[in-house]
Amino acid sequence: MQNSPEKRMETVLVTGGAGFIGCAISESLLRSFNRVVVVDNLHPQIHESGERPLGLADGVELIEADITDSATWDRVLPEVNPDVVIHLAAETGTGQSLEEATRHTHVNVVGTSQLLDGFIRNKTLPRRIVLSSSRAVYGEGAWRKEDGKLFYPGQRTSETLDKAEWDFAGAEPTAMNAAEVFPAPVSVYGATKLAQENILQAWAKSYGVETAILRLQNVYGPGQSLINPYTGIMSLFCRMAMGGRSIPLYEDGNVRRDFILIDDVASAIVAGAVSAQTHPTPLDIGSGEFQTIGTAAETIAARYAAPAPHVTGQYRQGDVRHAWADISAAKSVLGWAPRYNLEQGIVRLADWIDVQPDVKPA
Ligand SMILES: NC(=O)c1ccc[n+]([C@@H]2O[C@H](COP(=O)([O-])OP(=O)(O)OC[C@H]3O[C@@H](n4cnc5c(N)ncnc54)[C@H](O)[C@@H]3O)[C@@H](O)[C@H]2O)c1
Repeated sequence: MQNSPEKRMETVLVTGGAGFIGCAISESLLRSFNRVVVVDNLHPQIHESGERPLGLADGVELIEADITDSATWDRVLPEVNPDVVIHLAAETGTGQSLEEATRHTHVNVVGTSQLLDGFIRNKTLPRRIVLSSSRAVYGEGAWRKEDGKLFYPGQRTSETLDKAEWDFAGAEPTAMNAAEVFPAPVSVYGATKLAQENILQAWAKSYGVETAILRLQNVYGPGQSLINPYTGIMSLFCRMAMGGRSIPLYEDGNVRRDFILIDDVASAIVAGAVSAQTHPTPLDIGSGEFQTIGTAAETIAARYAAPAPHVTGQYRQGDVRHAWADISAAKSVLGWAPRYNLEQGIVRLADWIDVQPDVKPA
């Protein structure tokens, strides 16, 4: 990572640290902290075997426990006494959250409040809490009318989507920037991520705990789940192309996303944990550029010599039309910058998938 911190005699506790992002930061955390402890329930939707993931660096202590259970924190916090917490554990399926709202709310919201209550009950406080929030808090974000004025278009409805009216007529989307764009989630998942942010900020300010809230765009790359059907569009596209299929593109294929390689997210999160500066409001983390889903799919199809992608006109409730981040604040506060572009990232992802055992074409 860019700001290569010296190793500190501190303990970091990572919730959900056995997942995609948790494994990717584990080596770097061992270099930066004296002790690294992960609390993760090895959720079967992510961890098929139920065993410690190979990607979790040796030297990281794994405690298998549920963050929503108060007993977890009464057991863990007095013994671990973390200086820094990186809170990653979450239910992450955007579409799934509309059908399983209670499950997402329970883990994401109650799981967060249980962690915070655990600190108070056990009379210990961390110095800093880093939260992996999401671009999902913005919903459709802010769009600019032809007269230059910003407005919030709200949620797209089945009525307009059924008519293939994908964009908001007469307006252009703008980059997501926490300093300027209000959150307005359009999925239960997004609403729970915003609730996490609000609960953490209110609590942390009251107790003088520092926060680093990072709103991540679409993360992809080596280590991404190849079995979770609810997340990971890039790995799904790779598995389709690997099987010789033409990748189906929802809407008109021109949905914009900011794809950020896992290595760049890992460096941002570790910077959030060790940086000298924190920031009172959330920071946006992405590549800082958008690509259309069609472009990403074409790049993947070319990598596998698969047929060209095709537009289906289907859509998914809860998906937003366009999303990309303005990363200028994150760069200046964290001293961080992404290093990989989409082409380089897709090569890394596909090379990794090629050597995974038992990977099945989709
Ligand atoms: N991957 C992305 O594209 C992305 C984008 C924006 C935000 N985020 C956020 O980053 C964080 C990590 O995402 P990820 O991609 O690593 O997800 P992941 O699903 O790979 O990892 C989440 C981990 O949390 C664990 N977990 C789930 N419920 C738990 C519970 N009740 N108790 C303990 N552990 C539990 C799972 O076992 C898993 O190891 C999440 O908070 C997510 O909202 C991810």
